[in-house]
Amino acid sequence: MEYRTLIEPDRIHGSLYTNAEVFSHELARIWYREWVFVAHESELPESGDYVTRNVGRQPVVITRGEEGVIRVLLNRCSHRANLLCQDEKGSSHSFRCPYHGWTFTNSGELVGVPFRNGYGKTPIREKLALSRAPRVGSYKGFIFASLSPSGPALMEHLGNAAEAIDRLVDLSPDGEVELTAGWLKHKVSANWKMAVENQVDGYHPRFVHDSLFSAAKYQVRELCTDSSSALVRDHGNGHTELDFRPEYRKEGTSFIWFGRASEAKFPEYVERMVRRYGAERSRQLLMDGPPHVMIFPNLFLAEMNLLVIEPIGPSLTVQRQTSVLLKGAPEINRRAMRQTEGAMGPGGLLIPDDCEMMERNQVGLTAMSPEWLTLSRGMHREYSDEDGSLASNVTDETAQRGIWKKYLETMTEE
Ligand code: FES
Ligand code: FE
Repeated sequence: MEYRTLIEPDRIHGSLYTNAEVFSHELARIWYREWVFVAHESELPESGDYVTRNVGRQPVVITRGEEGVIRVLLNRCSHRANLLCQDEKGSSHSFRCPYHGWTFTNSGELVGVPFRNGYGKTPIREKLALSRAPRVGSYKGFIFASLSPSGPALMEHLGNAAEAIDRLVDLSPDGEVELTAGWLKHKVSANWKMAVENQVDGYHPRFVHDSLFSAAKYQVRELCTDSSSALVRDHGNGHTELDFRPEYRKEGTSFIWFGRASEAKFPEYVERMVRRYGAERSRQLLMDGPPHVMIFPNLFLAEMNLLVIEPIGPSLTVQRQTSVLLKGAPEINRRAMRQTEGAMGPGGLLIPDDCEMMERNQVGLTAMSPEWLTLSRGMHREYSDEDGSLASNVTDETAQRGIWKKYLETMTEE
């Protein structure tokens, strides 16, 4: 596949969203090589806790071992490949394969083989441990795995996106977030890159989300216009952002990002924030709000929600969603969960509309012409900002161009 002929600075070829060969290259080059978000430490707080997830199409179990060590094990029995763990989450220091009863510790060692005599004197326990992701890293509780033994370190990969994680956890008066509200899942008949691009598309909200804007107070209505001072940012490494802070700062008040709530509604939270961060920093945090940042390839910090993208096939993606819970802020969390239900749930007013657009894109792609998708919006007015990002008006396609730049580098590097 000659990717250089399919990706140009201002347009991309439609086959990149539909071709099965492209999809399998992406699994090998992006999903099985790069850092991929797998879970949050709050989902497995105690030794023995585990959750099951996918890295690309690889089923994995993320476990917390005796000493608190987090491991990412491939969820495949080393006997005859049965899916070892079926539960979405649980707590156990060992896993017993349902097929022939082989037992493994939660660090992956084979410790039990029924009817052992059938293997004579051949040593098998030592040879048949579970496979593990060779690299696992964590930043402020966010656990990432790479199925490649080499490559850039996690912090190098995150680059400027680490600061977005800081911004999110700093909204907690304890400096920590928890992802323990449970996950909603949407199965979307669209390519995974449609989801990545849509998260940071500031052009569509005025049209796709008009029904939400007419039903509820939602700050994004005014933010995503040609005359808004909100910005789109390309942070490099494929990480991108819709930065609403310039608009919030113009108004200079807290909680615009939280349905324009007043500070008087959460006096204890505000007090705890001031105690931790001091009056000035806390005022800034409550004015700026949470980040709207897409960390390539699968973690979307969606303000008070968090979305994770899982590729299933060229035209099938699962998007999971949860509320971001701020440790030490129960009153904020209660409201955040109600907002998640209203916006993200199956009958929600926000994300189902995005999913519908992604599915219609995928249907549109079956028409043979025009073959290319245009990504030129705002090219003439983007600029390098002082935070090191490439920035432009929030409705511009700077983010999508940044994503495709990273994509091209990853798909073509030696
Ligand atoms: Fe797991 Fe046989 S496949 S014990
Ligand atoms: Fe949207």
